[in-house]
Amino acid sequence: MEDNVTGSSEYVVIKAKSNGCQVFGLTRGQDTRLHHSEKLDKGEVLIVQFTDHTSAIKIRGKAVVMTKHGVVDTEE
Ligand code: TRP
Repeated sequence: MEDNVTGSSEYVVIKAKSNGCQVFGLTRGQDTRLHHSEKLDKGEVLIVQFTDHTSAIKIRGKAVVMTKHGVVDTEE
């Protein structure tokens, strides 16, 4: 996967449980900043990967996050 050299082929599934749930992508490297955000409404699902550019994801709002490590709920 040429666009994702340091990333894995794993996907993270985020399902919004309320309207206006936000998902932020944080940059990889020394400088940690938000480089992208997505707004999800209740029931919407976002499927994402970590990449060369994204090393962390922050979620604001009620959502269920599914990864190979298990299922986590954000709390509100
Ligand atoms: N830019 C940081 C990095 O690539 C992003 C990051 C990853 C981070 N994990 C973190 C920032 C944990 C704070 C806490 O490592």
